[in-house]
Amino acid sequence: MFSKIKSVGLFGLNAFPVDVEASISPGQPIFDVVGLPDIAVQESKARIRAVLGQLNLKLLNGRVTVNLAPASVKKIGSMFDLPITVAIMVLGGVIDCDLSDTAFIGELSLDGRISHINGALSMTITASQNGIKRLFLPKSNAKEASVADGIEVYGVEHITQIVDFLRTGTGLTPEPRYIPSAEKLIYREDFADVMGQTAAKKAIEVAAAGSHNILMLGPPGSGKSMLAKRIPSILPRITFEESIETTQIHSIAGIIDPKDPLVTNRPFRPVSHTISGAGLVGGGTVPRPGEISLAHNGVLFLDELPEFDRRTLETLRQPIENCEIVISRASGSVSYPCDVMLVAAMNPCPCGNFGNPKKKCTCSEKMVTMYLNKISQPVLDRIDIQIEVKPVEYEDLSERKAQESSARIAERVQRARDIQAERFKGTNIKSNSRITSDIIGEVCRLTPDAGDMLKAAFDRLGLSARAYDRILKVARTCADLAGLKDIDRACISQAIGFRSLDRKYWNR
Ligand SMILES: Nc1ncnc2c1ncn2[C@@H]1O[C@H](COP(=O)(O)OP(=O)(O)O)[C@@H](O)[C@H]1O
Ligand SMILES: [Mg+2]
Ligand SMILES: [Zn+2]
Repeated sequence: MFSKIKSVGLFGLNAFPVDVEASISPGQPIFDVVGLPDIAVQESKARIRAVLGQLNLKLLNGRVTVNLAPASVKKIGSMFDLPITVAIMVLGGVIDCDLSDTAFIGELSLDGRISHINGALSMTITASQNGIKRLFLPKSNAKEASVADGIEVYGVEHITQIVDFLRTGTGLTPEPRYIPSAEKLIYREDFADVMGQTAAKKAIEVAAAGSHNILMLGPPGSGKSMLAKRIPSILPRITFEESIETTQIHSIAGIIDPKDPLVTNRPFRPVSHTISGAGLVGGGTVPRPGEISLAHNGVLFLDELPEFDRRTLETLRQPIENCEIVISRASGSVSYPCDVMLVAAMNPCPCGNFGNPKKKCTCSEKMVTMYLNKISQPVLDRIDIQIEVKPVEYEDLSERKAQESSARIAERVQRARDIQAERFKGTNIKSNSRITSDIIGEVCRLTPDAGDMLKAAFDRLGLSARAYDRILKVARTCADLAGLKDIDRACISQAIGFRSLDRKYWNR
């Protein structure tokens, strides 16, 4: 006797179809599961035995062998409890219907309840892509899974519901497709609350418009954190595809709200300097996504940058550049996307007042240098826009003049992004910050006097080739915000200005 039930496995973000094959032959009662790592098998078998006992089903009185195919792929997690149990029920004749286009995923509790699993959306999408028309999974995952196309999902609380439904066709209904309400996109924090700081706001607008990484340096209390928190409020709306991508990552990390499962705002992930390398870029035996991937399609905010462990910061270099992090393990390698806008903030020195015209810095020259040098040149090199945030002017604070709202700034950002979308149509480049060297000459054309200006700056400031490219990309964004076809002098000058920190602080 033989049965075969479909299921889905997950490794990192990669879901893959799994066939659960069960067979029974007469003989001494043996229950064998092959194709799973040892510990998981033992636990799974114990739960399945308990549940069958609860249901008074004597289905394990013979030589029962369960195989999870393909055997070559490592299967991790407890989501195979449910399909294995169903396969055994089919063997025993408890369930007898066509399940050729049906799949099951879910962990069992000892009493037969079906508990939440992580990564449901990725698995549901893969199931659908592999011709599955119907998926039974934990009730708390149903809303999230319903977002996938071309598949009916049934949320189940207890295994008896599945048995009853497959025998009588009653008791369960497919989950209606979840559509998040449009009202959700409300940012409580608005640039209208930030008095003055025109220069910093302009730089942030450029950063948002081209998805450029940005570093803000300034004394404590100058509003760096306040400014950073408001960046998501001016970014373009997240697209549906981006929303699905980010949701999948959040789902694997287990940070989805089952009642409101789709990530519909661009993520803003503030990271504390106490974070480990694995916490930041991902890791663990079954590699989990790190903060950089949880921020995918949004903002990763590193506050108090020099407080971070230097090695931790260095681990960011590759992923920031490639928009992807690959984590290798003996069990295989996992890759998570991490297309983020990096926002960093820092004081200029331990006391915070170095370079502040109004307050005296009490640090020694050596302390300042050591503090600044915690951030390596290669890390700095990857931050297109670097600005000084000056303490807010008293007049700006006291007058409380109405400031431009985030919504207004967002309109300009969106227009600049639309121009970029048109420019990069048919490529996988999303924004100016990702312009590759092979097309930079073609897409960053300069007016003749802008060219002269850049050349002069290149010689005078001794720019590296990398810095030169970054200035061009940022200038391209300035030109897009201004609606210009070619980059003019003003744009070049603005872009060079965004790199002056280097000379004032690091290369004094
Ligand atoms: N430009 C500003 N307009 C209004 N309030 C400000 C401004 N700058 C700073 N503040 C106030 O000062 C507080 C401290 O700012 P914060 O962003 O924490 O500074 P930093 O991160 O640079 O140390 C803010 O929460 C805000 O209340
Ligand atoms: Mg701060
Ligand atoms: Zn100081």
